[in-house]
Order: sequence, then structure tokens, then C-alpha cells
Amino acid sequence: MKSNIALIGFMGSGKSTIGKRLARRLQREFVETDNLIEEHAGMPIPEIFRERGEAGFRDIEEAIIQDIAVSAQNAVIACGGGVIVRQANIDRLKGSSSIVYLETKIENLQDRLSGSRKRPLLNRPDRDQFIEELLEVRRPLYQAAADITIKTGKRPFAAVISEIIERLEIG
Ligand code: S3P
Repeated sequence: MKSNIALIGFMGSGKSTIGKRLARRLQREFVETDNLIEEHAGMPIPEIFRERGEAGFRDIEEAIIQDIAVSAQNAVIACGGGVIVRQANIDRLKGSSSIVYLETKIENLQDRLSGSRKRPLLNRPDRDQFIEELLEVRRPLYQAAADITIKTGKRPFAAVISEIIERLEIG
């Protein structure tokens, strides 16, 4: 049974903020995979990347998703932006969760991510260009994984949350 709602989308698309508010509105548990990864590794994400590289980070992410896929029930799950990089993650999530893609325009993502210091992938001088290229690669993966797609960006959170609830026919 798909009792969870899993939010996917690019870094800066509002998964955490929207997820928290959605969980509160539905009176459900809120789970954030990035927090669980940090707890599991005992260090913040930039340090995981530094010490174990991206592949090391993805291994922990996959283990966390595998765990959530069997243990979480009626939860709202905010996934890291790269969760779609490994198809196994999506296969596992699909069994227990409705997958919601939060789709955000490139310029909104670039704005929101301009001051980010805690995302190792964006730690580079050509950040805006890289965001554009990475989004091109990932967009089809988000789309293929999603049960529904919801536009975010400059819309009020309340409108986004109401649309998720309506489209999933819950609440
Ligand atoms: C990543 C997104 C981050 C975090 C890590 C890698 C990615 O999560 O998991 O820095 O590959 O897109 P957010 O989407 O919450 O920023």
C-alpha cells in the first residue's frame, strides 16, 4: 500500500519546507533523508562528500531509502535532490509511496541556491551553468519517477500543498 508521500525534485525546489508543512496539515510524520544520512554517518553532508566522495554518499543514501521503504508508514518523506540518480531508490520508494515531483523553473532554482553553502555539488565557480546542465540531465529522471508533478517556484506554499492533497485525493 502506498501510504507515504515522497517529495522529489532538484535542490532548492522546496522539498523540506513544503514537506514539513504538508506533514503538519495532514498530521503525519515528517522524514528528511538528508537528516537520516547525517545521523547515520555521524557527520554533516559536506564532510561525507569530503571523506567518502559522492559515491560514498550515494551508498548511504541508498541504504537509508531501503530502510525507509520498509519502515515508514503514513509519512511525508523529503528526499535529497539526487535520489533519482540510482534507479533502485525509485523502485524501492514506489512500493510504499506516492511520488510527487516538485518542479521549479531554472531561474528560481538559481536564485534560491545562490547563497547555499551546504551543498557540495554546487561548490564551484560556474554554479549557475552547472545547475542548468544538471537539471537537463535529471529532469527526465524526476519526470519518469513521479506519480504526479506539481509546479513550485513563486507560488504560495499553501497553494502547492492544497494541490498536492487534491491531486493525490487524500486529506
Ligand atoms: C543532492 C541534494 C542534497 C543532498 C546532497 C546531494 C543532489 O539534498 O542530498 O547535497 O545530488 O542533488 P537537497 O535536494 O535537499 O538539497
